[in-house]
Amino acid sequence: MILDGNRIRDQIKAECRPRVEQVIARAGRPPGLAVVLVGNNPASEVYVRSKTKTAAELGMRGETLTPPASISTEELLEIVECLNARPEIDGILVQLPLPPQIDSQRILLAIAPEKDVDGFHPYNVGLLAIGREGPRPCTPAGVIQLLKRYDLPIAGKNAVVVGRSDIVGKPMALLLLQENATVTICHSKTRDLPGVCRAADILVAAIGRPAMVTADFIKPGAVVIDVGINKIEKRADAERIFEPERLADFDRRGSLLVGDVRPGDMARLASAYTPVPGGVGPLTIAMLMRNTIESAERRTAS
Ligand code: GUN
Repeated sequence: MILDGNRIRDQIKAECRPRVEQVIARAGRPPGLAVVLVGNNPASEVYVRSKTKTAAELGMRGETLTPPASISTEELLEIVECLNARPEIDGILVQLPLPPQIDSQRILLAIAPEKDVDGFHPYNVGLLAIGREGPRPCTPAGVIQLLKRYDLPIAGKNAVVVGRSDIVGKPMALLLLQENATVTICHSKTRDLPGVCRAADILVAAIGRPAMVTADFIKPGAVVIDVGINKIEKRADAERIFEPERLADFDRRGSLLVGDVRPGDMARLASAYTPVPGGVGPLTIAMLMRNTIESAERRTAS
Protein backbone atom coordinates (compact mmCIF):
# COMPACT_ATOMS: atom_id res chain seq x y z
CA MET A 1 0.00 0.00 0.00
CA ILE A 2 1.25 3.46 -0.91
CA LEU A 3 0.54 6.03 1.81
CA ASP A 4 -0.73 9.08 -0.07
CA GLY A 5 0.40 12.21 1.76
CA ASN A 6 -1.39 14.51 -0.67
CA ARG A 7 -4.73 12.88 0.15
CA ILE A 8 -4.24 13.19 3.92
CA ARG A 9 -2.98 16.77 3.49
CA ASP A 10 -6.23 17.62 1.67
CA GLN A 11 -8.27 16.07 4.51
CA ILE A 12 -6.39 18.09 7.13
CA LYS A 13 -6.73 21.29 5.10
CA ALA A 14 -10.48 20.68 4.69
CA GLU A 15 -10.75 20.39 8.49
CA CYS A 16 -8.87 23.68 8.84
CA ARG A 17 -11.28 25.78 6.75
CA PRO A 18 -14.26 25.96 9.17
CA ARG A 19 -11.88 26.62 12.04
CA VAL A 20 -10.42 29.62 10.18
CA GLU A 21 -13.97 30.90 9.66
CA GLN A 22 -14.68 30.52 13.37
CA VAL A 23 -11.61 32.52 14.35
CA ILE A 24 -12.63 35.27 11.92
CA ALA A 25 -16.19 35.29 13.28
CA ARG A 26 -15.00 35.49 16.86
CA ALA A 27 -11.93 37.69 16.63
CA GLY A 28 -12.68 39.75 13.54
CA ARG A 29 -9.42 38.70 11.94
CA PRO A 30 -7.95 35.51 10.46
CA PRO A 31 -5.22 33.41 12.08
CA GLY A 32 -1.87 35.05 11.30
CA LEU A 33 1.40 33.30 10.48
CA ALA A 34 4.76 35.07 10.15
CA VAL A 35 7.61 33.22 8.50
CA VAL A 36 11.16 34.52 8.83
CA LEU A 37 13.42 33.44 5.98
CA VAL A 38 17.02 34.53 6.45
CA GLY A 39 19.19 34.75 3.33
CA ASN A 40 18.70 32.93 0.04
CA ASN A 41 18.83 29.17 0.64
CA PRO A 42 16.98 27.92 -2.49
CA ALA A 43 15.38 24.89 -0.75
CA SER A 44 14.20 27.10 2.14
CA GLU A 45 12.77 29.62 -0.34
CA VAL A 46 10.67 26.87 -1.96
CA TYR A 47 9.39 25.61 1.43
CA VAL A 48 8.57 29.08 2.71
CA ARG A 49 6.68 30.08 -0.44
CA SER A 50 4.62 26.91 -0.11
CA LYS A 51 3.85 27.71 3.55
CA THR A 52 2.59 31.23 2.92
CA LYS A 53 0.69 30.13 -0.20
CA THR A 54 -1.16 27.43 1.77
CA ALA A 55 -1.97 29.93 4.52
CA ALA A 56 -3.51 32.29 1.95
CA GLU A 57 -5.45 29.42 0.36
CA LEU A 58 -7.06 28.68 3.74
CA GLY A 59 -8.02 32.32 4.26
CA MET A 60 -5.30 32.95 6.81
CA ARG A 61 -2.90 35.86 6.93
CA GLY A 62 0.62 34.84 5.94
CA GLU A 63 3.58 37.16 5.86
CA THR A 64 7.20 36.54 5.06
CA LEU A 65 10.11 38.54 6.44
CA THR A 66 13.36 38.16 4.51
CA PRO A 67 16.36 39.63 6.35
CA PRO A 68 19.73 39.26 4.58
CA ALA A 69 22.10 36.33 5.25
CA SER A 70 24.48 38.80 6.95
CA ILE A 71 22.03 39.59 9.80
CA SER A 72 23.38 39.30 13.36
CA THR A 73 21.83 37.28 16.19
CA GLU A 74 20.90 40.55 17.95
CA GLU A 75 19.15 41.93 14.88
CA LEU A 76 17.22 38.70 14.32
CA LEU A 77 16.23 38.69 18.00
CA GLU A 78 14.75 42.16 17.45
CA ILE A 79 12.63 40.86 14.56
CA VAL A 80 11.36 37.98 16.70
CA GLU A 81 10.57 40.33 19.61
CA CYS A 82 8.63 42.56 17.26
CA LEU A 83 6.55 39.58 16.05
CA ASN A 84 6.03 38.43 19.65
CA ALA A 85 4.49 41.83 20.42
CA ARG A 86 2.07 41.94 17.44
CA PRO A 87 -1.39 40.72 18.52
CA GLU A 88 -2.55 39.72 15.01
CA ILE A 89 0.36 37.28 14.65
CA ASP A 90 -0.53 33.86 16.14
CA GLY A 91 2.35 31.83 14.75
CA ILE A 92 6.04 32.60 14.27
CA LEU A 93 8.28 30.31 12.27
CA VAL A 94 11.97 30.97 11.75
CA GLN A 95 13.01 28.76 8.85
CA LEU A 96 16.02 26.57 9.61
CA PRO A 97 18.90 26.19 8.96
CA LEU A 98 20.13 29.68 9.90
CA PRO A 99 23.48 31.14 8.73
CA PRO A 100 26.49 30.03 10.83
CA GLN A 101 26.95 33.38 12.64
CA ILE A 102 23.46 33.10 14.14
CA ASP A 103 22.97 31.48 17.55
CA SER A 104 19.95 29.33 16.55
CA GLN A 105 19.23 28.19 20.13
CA ARG A 106 18.93 31.80 21.29
CA ILE A 107 16.53 32.56 18.44
CA LEU A 108 14.29 29.56 19.18
CA LEU A 109 14.30 30.47 22.88
CA ALA A 110 13.20 34.04 22.06
CA ILE A 111 10.02 33.01 20.21
CA ALA A 112 7.04 33.35 22.55
CA PRO A 113 6.12 29.71 23.39
CA GLU A 114 2.41 30.41 22.68
CA LYS A 115 3.33 31.54 19.14
CA ASP A 116 5.82 28.72 18.50
CA VAL A 117 4.03 26.83 15.72
CA ASP A 118 7.09 24.64 15.02
CA GLY A 119 7.08 23.28 18.58
CA PHE A 120 10.84 23.93 18.77
CA HIS A 121 10.89 26.15 21.88
CA PRO A 122 12.39 24.27 24.85
CA TYR A 123 9.16 24.87 26.80
CA ASN A 124 7.13 23.11 24.10
CA VAL A 125 9.76 20.38 23.72
CA GLY A 126 9.23 19.82 27.46
CA LEU A 127 5.45 19.60 27.04
CA LEU A 128 5.98 16.94 24.38
CA ALA A 129 8.43 15.02 26.57
CA ILE A 130 5.94 14.78 29.44
CA GLY A 131 2.97 14.16 27.15
CA ARG A 132 1.09 17.39 27.80
CA GLU A 133 -0.88 19.23 25.16
CA GLY A 134 1.04 21.77 23.09
CA PRO A 135 2.26 22.47 19.56
CA ARG A 136 4.04 19.46 18.09
CA PRO A 137 6.82 19.63 15.48
CA CYS A 138 5.04 19.52 12.12
CA THR A 139 6.83 16.75 10.26
CA PRO A 140 6.66 14.07 12.97
CA ALA A 141 3.10 15.11 13.86
CA GLY A 142 2.23 14.65 10.18
CA VAL A 143 3.67 11.13 10.23
CA ILE A 144 1.46 10.22 13.20
CA GLN A 145 -1.58 11.62 11.36
CA LEU A 146 -0.70 9.55 8.30
CA LEU A 147 -0.41 6.32 10.31
CA LYS A 148 -3.67 6.99 12.18
CA ARG A 149 -5.69 8.00 9.14
CA TYR A 150 -4.61 4.83 7.34
CA ASP A 151 -5.60 2.82 10.46
CA LEU A 152 -2.09 1.48 10.89
CA PRO A 153 -1.71 0.44 14.53
CA ILE A 154 1.15 1.95 16.57
CA ALA A 155 0.59 0.65 20.12
CA GLY A 156 2.80 -2.31 20.94
CA LYS A 157 4.72 -2.11 17.66
CA ASN A 158 8.49 -1.97 17.43
CA ALA A 159 9.20 1.47 15.98
CA VAL A 160 12.74 2.32 14.88
CA VAL A 161 13.63 5.93 14.10
CA VAL A 162 16.85 6.46 12.14
CA GLY A 163 18.14 9.98 12.83
CA ARG A 164 18.13 12.00 16.05
CA SER A 165 17.64 15.59 14.88
CA ASP A 166 15.75 18.07 17.06
CA ILE A 167 13.39 18.76 14.12
CA VAL A 168 12.39 15.20 13.20
CA GLY A 169 14.12 12.23 14.85
CA LYS A 170 13.80 13.12 18.54
CA PRO A 171 10.22 14.44 18.43
CA MET A 172 9.24 11.52 16.17
CA ALA A 173 10.49 9.07 18.77
CA LEU A 174 8.62 10.89 21.57
CA LEU A 175 5.36 10.95 19.59
CA LEU A 176 5.61 7.23 18.79
CA LEU A 177 6.30 6.57 22.47
CA GLN A 178 3.23 8.58 23.39
CA GLU A 179 1.26 6.27 21.06
CA ASN A 180 2.65 3.32 23.04
CA ALA A 181 5.13 1.99 20.49
CA THR A 182 8.36 0.38 21.69
CA VAL A 183 10.82 2.92 20.34
CA THR A 184 14.46 2.69 19.31
CA ILE A 185 16.45 5.72 18.09
CA CYS A 186 19.41 5.00 15.80
CA HIS A 187 22.23 7.29 14.71
CA SER A 188 25.71 7.29 13.18
CA LYS A 189 27.23 5.39 16.13
CA THR A 190 24.58 2.65 16.23
CA ARG A 191 26.07 -0.83 15.93
CA ASP A 192 24.57 -3.12 13.30
CA LEU A 193 22.17 -0.51 11.98
CA PRO A 194 20.63 -2.83 9.35
CA GLY A 195 20.00 -5.48 12.03
CA VAL A 196 18.34 -3.00 14.40
CA CYS A 197 16.17 -1.67 11.57
CA ARG A 198 15.17 -5.19 10.53
CA ALA A 199 13.44 -5.57 13.92
CA ALA A 200 11.13 -2.64 13.09
CA ASP A 201 7.41 -3.02 12.47
CA ILE A 202 7.43 0.73 11.81
CA LEU A 203 10.65 2.10 10.33
CA VAL A 204 11.09 5.88 10.09
CA ALA A 205 14.05 7.10 8.04
CA ALA A 206 15.04 10.69 8.86
CA ILE A 207 18.75 10.83 8.15
CA GLY A 208 19.07 13.11 5.16
CA ARG A 209 21.20 10.71 3.12
CA PRO A 210 19.87 9.57 -0.25
CA ALA A 211 18.71 5.94 -0.33
CA MET A 212 20.87 4.96 2.64
CA VAL A 213 18.21 2.52 3.84
CA THR A 214 18.23 -0.54 1.57
CA ALA A 215 16.64 -4.00 1.43
CA ASP A 216 18.78 -5.39 4.27
CA PHE A 217 17.25 -2.79 6.65
CA ILE A 218 13.62 -3.68 5.98
CA LYS A 219 11.63 -6.50 7.58
CA PRO A 220 9.21 -7.91 5.00
CA GLY A 221 5.77 -6.50 5.80
CA ALA A 222 7.07 -3.49 7.76
CA VAL A 223 5.53 -0.02 7.50
CA VAL A 224 8.24 2.27 6.12
CA ILE A 225 8.07 6.05 6.51
CA ASP A 226 10.60 7.98 4.45
CA VAL A 227 11.11 11.53 5.71
CA GLY A 228 14.09 12.32 3.45
CA ILE A 229 14.04 14.59 0.42
CA ASN A 230 17.28 14.47 -1.58
CA LYS A 231 17.99 15.63 -5.11
CA ILE A 232 19.96 13.21 -7.30
CA GLU A 233 21.87 14.96 -10.08
CA LYS A 234 24.62 12.47 -11.06
CA ARG A 235 23.72 9.65 -13.41
CA ALA A 236 25.96 7.18 -11.54
CA ASP A 237 23.98 7.88 -8.34
CA ALA A 238 20.70 7.49 -10.22
CA GLU A 239 21.84 4.11 -11.57
CA ARG A 240 22.68 2.91 -8.07
CA ILE A 241 19.45 4.18 -6.49
CA PHE A 242 16.62 3.81 -9.00
CA GLU A 243 15.10 0.87 -10.86
CA PRO A 244 16.12 0.79 -14.55
CA GLU A 245 12.67 2.01 -15.68
CA ARG A 246 13.08 5.30 -13.76
CA LEU A 247 16.33 6.18 -15.54
CA ALA A 248 14.50 7.50 -18.60
CA ASP A 249 12.77 9.99 -16.22
CA PHE A 250 16.16 10.97 -14.86
CA ASP A 251 17.60 11.52 -18.34
CA ARG A 252 14.66 13.65 -19.35
CA ARG A 253 14.68 15.89 -16.26
CA GLY A 254 18.38 15.85 -15.39
CA SER A 255 17.56 15.12 -11.73
CA LEU A 256 15.20 13.10 -9.54
CA LEU A 257 14.11 13.34 -5.92
CA VAL A 258 14.74 10.41 -3.63
CA GLY A 259 14.16 9.89 0.07
CA ASP A 260 16.41 8.19 2.60
CA VAL A 261 15.12 4.77 1.50
CA ARG A 262 15.91 3.03 -1.79
CA PRO A 263 12.53 3.23 -3.52
CA GLY A 264 12.49 -0.18 -5.25
CA ASP A 265 13.46 -2.02 -2.04
CA MET A 266 10.78 -0.21 -0.07
CA ALA A 267 8.08 -0.95 -2.64
CA ARG A 268 9.08 -4.63 -2.77
CA LEU A 269 9.35 -5.31 0.97
CA ALA A 270 7.08 -2.90 2.89
CA SER A 271 3.40 -3.61 3.52
CA ALA A 272 2.82 0.16 3.44
CA TYR A 273 5.20 3.02 2.62
CA THR A 274 5.42 6.73 1.86
CA PRO A 275 6.62 7.68 -1.62
CA VAL A 276 9.01 10.58 -2.28
CA PRO A 277 7.69 13.01 -3.33
CA GLY A 278 4.05 12.86 -2.21
CA GLY A 279 4.44 11.06 1.11
CA VAL A 280 5.49 12.88 4.28
CA GLY A 281 6.36 16.21 2.59
CA PRO A 282 2.83 17.53 2.04
CA LEU A 283 1.86 16.80 5.65
CA THR A 284 4.42 19.13 7.20
CA ILE A 285 2.71 22.22 5.81
CA ALA A 286 -0.78 20.93 6.65
CA MET A 287 0.29 20.44 10.28
CA LEU A 288 1.83 23.91 10.36
CA MET A 289 -1.55 25.34 9.33
CA ARG A 290 -3.25 23.31 12.06
CA ASN A 291 -0.73 24.48 14.68
CA THR A 292 -1.26 28.10 13.61
CA ILE A 293 -5.05 27.78 13.80
CA GLU A 294 -4.82 26.13 17.23
CA SER A 295 -2.60 28.96 18.42
CA ALA A 296 -5.13 31.51 17.09
CA GLU A 297 -7.96 29.63 18.81
CA ARG A 298 -6.14 29.69 22.15
CA ARG A 299 -5.09 33.31 21.79
CA THR A 300 -8.55 34.57 20.81
CA ALA A 301 -10.60 32.46 23.24
CA SER A 302 -12.52 34.75 25.58
N1 GUN B 1 13.62 23.40 8.10
C1 GUN B 1 13.29 22.15 7.70
N2 GUN B 1 12.13 21.76 8.27
C2 GUN B 1 11.72 22.78 9.05
C3 GUN B 1 10.59 22.98 9.89
O1 GUN B 1 9.71 22.14 10.05
N3 GUN B 1 10.54 24.19 10.51
C4 GUN B 1 11.49 25.15 10.37
N4 GUN B 1 11.35 26.28 11.04
N5 GUN B 1 12.55 24.99 9.60
C5 GUN B 1 12.66 23.81 8.95
